[in-house]
Amino acid sequence: MNKKFLVIGNPIEHSLSPKLHNYWIKKNNLKASYDRKLLVKDDLQNLILELRQEKIHGLNVTVPFKKLIIPFLDILSNEAKSSQSVNTIYKDKDKIIGDNTDIAGFKIGLEKTNQIIKNKIVLILGAGGVVTSIIIALKKMQISKIYLSNRTESKALEIQKLFPEVEIIEWGKVKNFDIIINATSIGLKEKEKIILDYENISQNKFFYDVIYNPKETYFLKRARFFGAQIENGKMMFIYQAQKAFCIWHNILPIVDDETINLLEL
Ligand code: ATR
Repeated sequence: MNKKFLVIGNPIEHSLSPKLHNYWIKKNNLKASYDRKLLVKDDLQNLILELRQEKIHGLNVTVPFKKLIIPFLDILSNEAKSSQSVNTIYKDKDKIIGDNTDIAGFKIGLEKTNQIIKNKIVLILGAGGVVTSIIIALKKMQISKIYLSNRTESKALEIQKLFPEVEIIEWGKVKNFDIIINATSIGLKEKEKIILDYENISQNKFFYDVIYNPKETYFLKRARFFGAQIENGKMMFIYQAQKAFCIWHNILPIVDDETINLLEL
């Protein structure tokens, strides 16, 4: 039987998940296909029904559905529960399970950079669907302090309810940090800019952008120019996909140079 997998989101055209999963499917000689699907919120219920009926065998979930999908699922993994964010869905013994592989993806991706994370101070920009996963991963890596800054403060406060140790700072303000993470969507479009005093805050700091397409956002470009170490979200993306693939197919696909180059833009 040809198993069917989907990534759902809105927008979704930019997603490189089909390219990566179909590559691994082929490499492992599996009978499966992986497509992208543009959805609106009202489609979620039917989609989960298709999963129950095994018309679909697995889903990846991206912006803006990672939290919105939760009420339609039967069981959440511990990671999905603690982050209140689901990016991988499958059926197991008549139950629809929501899992989160962003946490592992972010953690492994960050470990691959060889940056020291333990005991560092981090400033996260944004309060969207992926931020709770980032916080959990950073806590596992024994970060010493997390500041969070979001344009809409109420969304930052929601996250603080889950993680009271996180300190919120006003949007546009910066604290002394070692690592700064862009988890907003600013930069997805080439012209969008995060306005910071790059000249004075970049030297010897580590700038991480969750965005991997474009490869170097304004945030990373300016920081690199003024002496920062930089990294985009490509490895996070690859490792969250690797874990999802393993959940669905019970095979841990190889991440080698060919895999990484596949996503070169
Ligand atoms: P969602 O919020 O649906 O999970 P997301 O793409 O994961 O979507 O999150 C978008 C993030 O980028 C949010 O933190 C958003 O800030 P708001 O909560 O204030 O909307 C942030 N963002 C997007 N465009 C922005 C802009 N022009 N200026 C500041 N923040 C922006």
